[in-house]
Amino acid sequence: MTRPPKEIEQQQPAGVAPPERAPMTVPRVAEMKRNGEPIVMVTAYDFPSGQVAEEAGVDLVLVGDSAAMVVLGHDSTVPVGMDEMVMLAGAVHRGVTTPLLIGDLPFGSYEQSNEQAIANAQRFLKEAGCDAVKLERGGVSVERARAIINAGIPVMGHVGLTPQTATALGGFKAQGRTADTAAKLAEETLALQSVGCFAVVFEAIPAAVTEALMPQLEVPVIGIGAGPATDGQVLVFHDLLGIYGGHAPRFVRRYAEVRGVMVKGVSEYANDVRNRRFPTEEHGYSIDPEELAEFKRYLTDESLAGTDTPWDW
Ligand code: KIV
Repeated sequence: MTRPPKEIEQQQPAGVAPPERAPMTVPRVAEMKRNGEPIVMVTAYDFPSGQVAEEAGVDLVLVGDSAAMVVLGHDSTVPVGMDEMVMLAGAVHRGVTTPLLIGDLPFGSYEQSNEQAIANAQRFLKEAGCDAVKLERGGVSVERARAIINAGIPVMGHVGLTPQTATALGGFKAQGRTADTAAKLAEETLALQSVGCFAVVFEAIPAAVTEALMPQLEVPVIGIGAGPATDGQVLVFHDLLGIYGGHAPRFVRRYAEVRGVMVKGVSEYANDVRNRRFPTEEHGYSIDPEELAEFKRYLTDESLAGTDTPWDW
C-alpha cells in the first residue's frame, strides 16, 4: 500500500529543512538486510503512539497483540480478538505515513484454516490500512503464511517465545536453549523463509543461537531478546517508554519513565482542582458585559426558581 511521503520534523540545525523519508516497503526491508542497515521496529496501539513512531523515524510499526496486556490489561495475549485489533490498527494507521504497518493476527484468527487466515489478514489491509500481517510459530502457521502470501499479503513470521502459546511452552520462557530446540527454531525459520515471509521475529532466544543461525538465513530477522546479531530490533512501546506498570522481561531497555511523568501530571491536576487553583481566568471564555447583564436580568425577572426538576437527587 503506497502512502505519500511526509515531512518528518526531527531535530535539525536552524534553517535546514528536515529530510523527507520515503515510505517503507517490503523490498526496502530486504535491501536493508543486504546493506547491513539495522532495521528499527516498535509496537504501537493508537493514534498518538503511531505519531510518535512516525516522528521518531522508525522503519516498521507492529500493532502487536501485546495490546491485550499493555493496553487492555489482560494477563496474556490470548483474549484479544480481531475486532479489537482492527480498531487499534486503524487508529495507528491514522498516525503513520512512513513506516511499514504490520497487523498482528491474534490467537484464534488464523489457526483453523487457510480461508480463515486469508480473510482476517485481508481485514487488516481493507479495514485498518495495514501493509502486512504477522503470525506466530512454525508448523501449521507455515501453511497459513503461504496461503496469505499467495493471496497477495506480505507476512512476517514469529518464532522462539510465541506468547499466544506460552502455556504450551511452559510459560514466558526463553526458547532454543538446547541443541534440539535450537534446531527446531532453525527449521521453523527456514520453513517460514521458504514460503516467502518478508521477515521473521526471533523472541527470547539465546544470543549465541541467533549468531550461529544468522549466516544461514536470507530472510530479515527482527530480534526481541535474541541478541545483537539480528538484522533489526523490536521493543514494545509501553515497555521501552516505561508506561506499563506490569512485569517487564529482561530483554527490555527502558528509554524513558513516562508512567511516572503521567502520574505526577494527573496528581498535580487533582491537587489543583481540590485546592481551587484550576481553572483560572486564562482557561475560560468571555462574554460581552451587556449580554451578561441581560442574562442576569433574565435570571432575576423571570425567576427559574419555580421550574420543576423532574428527578430528585
Ligand atoms: O505482540 C507483540 O508486541 C509482538 C512483539 C513482541 C514482536 O509480537
